[in-house]
Amino acid sequence: MQKWLRAQLSAALALSLWFLKALAAPPLAVRLSGALSEEQRQQVLSLVASARADVEAFALRGEGLVVNRSFGPGGTSHETLFLHRHLERRAPALRRQLLDLALGAERAAGWNLTRGVREGALRARCIELLTYQGGRHVNPVRWHGDGATLMTMVVMMSPPGSFEGGAVELRDYGNGLQEEPAEWDEVIRVGCSSCATRPAGSVRQERHLELAPGDALAWRGWTLHRAAPVLKGQRQVLAIEWWLGPDCTSSGLPRAPDTPKELHRAVYLDPGASQLRRWLGGSLCEQPPCVDARSALRALAAYQEAVALAPGDPMATSALQSFLENGGAQAAAEASFGK
Ligand SMILES: *[C@@H]1O[C@H](CO)[C@@H](O)[C@H](O)[C@H]1NC(C)=O
Ligand SMILES: *[C@@H]1O[C@H](CO)[C@@H](O)[C@H](O)[C@H]1NC(C)=O
Repeated sequence: MQKWLRAQLSAALALSLWFLKALAAPPLAVRLSGALSEEQRQQVLSLVASARADVEAFALRGEGLVVNRSFGPGGTSHETLFLHRHLERRAPALRRQLLDLALGAERAAGWNLTRGVREGALRARCIELLTYQGGRHVNPVRWHGDGATLMTMVVMMSPPGSFEGGAVELRDYGNGLQEEPAEWDEVIRVGCSSCATRPAGSVRQERHLELAPGDALAWRGWTLHRAAPVLKGQRQVLAIEWWLGPDCTSSGLPRAPDTPKELHRAVYLDPGASQLRRWLGGSLCEQPPCVDARSALRALAAYQEAVALAPGDPMATSALQSFLENGGAQAAAEASFGK
């Protein structure tokens, strides 16, 4: 066979293999049009107004309801207003509806997040209003994941035309190149309206534009995501993270920290996600001294698995390196010796 023909055939084969893999893989995100009615959206906005009015009273009791977050280099990328103190108390029906939406997204996607547990076991880790202000002085949101969160759901609150930019961007795993994707307009559309998916190596990427007010978008918490910069105006979304850990309303914690137990659950649901192993390592022992010998060994194993799953991911490599260089090698050696 001629060389060029072989090259053509192998390129075609690689592309079809990618498509088969992409078809077999569960969707990156599920979009629910009209998830909240206009009346319910107004109800959320009125809860937001009462939470804002209560910020000072809560601050006096030592509880912060509002924080400026930085998800990148430098200063504030967006403001977070926690609604867990207000939603359940003032709008229990809305709260139930949000859970129903999450379960609906879960069934549509086939992520099996509640496999082995009751559906009702899905709890809210946090309920927040996120505000992104347009303008030159705002710092971009970098790619990040939500740790042990099983599902992150955002519902658009802003009316059309009130902002520019702010698309939701998603990518699969940390298993690929970390640099910016090639031009987004080279995208291949795969079966979802107003969204674009393209392969970048073995990594899928999607960009969701034009969520109408009340529309929701849900993804597995560890799927890397970011909001593209808001260029003008103000963009607000209601964000709820779901997991099997403590519910923010009953614990009173605005967003409980990752624990090895919750991360193990996520690893069980998506064993191929390298970033989950890296975060698991971090929650077991970010840097020696570890709490005990067992944690040192388990952390080392988690960091090594992250690298094995994503050999090209510099985040995985540097987490392992940093653990080893800071005494992890010795801690693990001592731990296996004492075993
Ligand atoms: C958040 O940032 C804004 C704008 O820089 C500032 O006005 C506000 O006081 C900050 N809020 C908190 C809670 O730090
Ligand atoms: C969910 O479970 C079904 C049935 O067991 C299986 O076919 C599917 O691959 C699972 N999905 C994921 C994301 O593991």
